[in-house]
Amino acid sequence: MNSVVNATGTIATEDQTGWHTVGEVASLFASRDCMGTVLDGVKVGIFRVDGEFFALDDICTHGAALLSDGFLEGHEVECPLHAGLVDVRTGCALTAPIVRDTRRHQVKVTDGQLLVRLSA
Ligand code: FES
Repeated sequence: MNSVVNATGTIATEDQTGWHTVGEVASLFASRDCMGTVLDGVKVGIFRVDGEFFALDDICTHGAALLSDGFLEGHEVECPLHAGLVDVRTGCALTAPIVRDTRRHQVKVTDGQLLVRLSA
């Protein structure tokens, strides 16, 4: 099992199956429904909608902005830089200027801990 201190200052661990334990849901999402972290050098944005969690590459495919710094409404996150919309369920680009979809990652909650497995 590998351990690293991620961007949120918490310790993320990775098990043999590639699942990273990001941290306790209650503390990760205490103030917002979006959070960002770094796993294996990949910036990952994690979004909570109606008790469900979704994980995407955090860097907007249009430019140098983090989707986790954006505005979440329903299942759509608005990029904070140019206001393009991305569906957090699918990573699909919904509006210009974003034209490329965002890579999704697997996410689950086990015993109150949020886990993410990076896609290839
Ligand atoms: S950087 Fe995200 S829409 Fe331009």
